[in-house]
Amino acid sequence: MDTIRGGNLIDLGTLSRDAIVEVLDTAESFVEVASRTVKKVPALSGRVVASLFYEESTRTRLSFETAAKRLSADVLSLAVASSSVKKGESLRDTIATIEALGIDAVVLRHRSSGAAEQVSRYVPHVRVINAGDGLHQHPTQGLLDAFTVRRALAGRRGVEALGTGASLFEGLRVVIVGDIRHSRVARSDIDAYVTLGARVSVAGPATLLPDDLDDWPVEVATDLDAALEQSDVVSLLRLQTERGTGAFVPSLREFTSTFGLTEERAARLRPEAVVMHPGPINRGVELDSAVADLPSSLIAQQVANGVPIRMAVLYLTIAGRTKEER
Ligand code: CP
Repeated sequence: MDTIRGGNLIDLGTLSRDAIVEVLDTAESFVEVASRTVKKVPALSGRVVASLFYEESTRTRLSFETAAKRLSADVLSLAVASSSVKKGESLRDTIATIEALGIDAVVLRHRSSGAAEQVSRYVPHVRVINAGDGLHQHPTQGLLDAFTVRRALAGRRGVEALGTGASLFEGLRVVIVGDIRHSRVARSDIDAYVTLGARVSVAGPATLLPDDLDDWPVEVATDLDAALEQSDVVSLLRLQTERGTGAFVPSLREFTSTFGLTEERAARLRPEAVVMHPGPINRGVELDSAVADLPSSLIAQQVANGVPIRMAVLYLTIAGRTKEER
């Protein structure tokens, strides 16, 4: 797809370079809204966004809801744990119920890979935005991570990120470390970085690498320390104990000693390298607590950048089609 205008956002792997750059550029135009006294623009006034999270979330849920409100949309936020889902109502009937209330878009997080795609078939006239589905995709995380890297690189070079397109990613070396197997973030980050022109390698215990890794557009870093020394972006992934990751490593201590970004390892990074993590972080496991708070850590910027990226995604998907095109 060359644009998400008027469409859904389910899988970042289906987006072209132009489509990703369009989202990054649109997000760039929304950044300044956060610095206004009244943090609102009327772009989605009168539109309704449903927020439907079947899995836990802090960052994604809050930033989507903040984004929708900054665009002046009304937000229907379903507390799944106290909803009729607990009485056994199916995903299909829950979506049909919400659609009957009159919504323009649904933001869905679900434990099942493919749930967002399925919902898009149930409600073809509602825009569906995947906020994380099982092991499959977390497209807005991939977009906000690329946005964060582009802003950091532009800042260092003293240029405006807007207008750089994908040029800052050419030749960029990214290493993603940790639980690649269970990570929808890794899948979406790889889609974003590779489409924009970066070279991506992955590192982790063999048990936490996916079985089909040969088909991924990445290299495997067998020597983590060498990969760290050569990388511009070091992205760490959370060990997802809720998906049984504990059974894939002998112990957390062994994982940290081999694959954690300890202070000792962080000292070997290139001076201009940045450290990222989608959160929530397990301090002392994927990275030492002090490393999370280094100036080279972009973790707080990743969270902040979630809002303009999600504003861009909501704006483009909901308002991106003219009346004639609908
Ligand atoms: N990164 C991320 O998806 O965080 P949450 O689970 O808190 O939304």
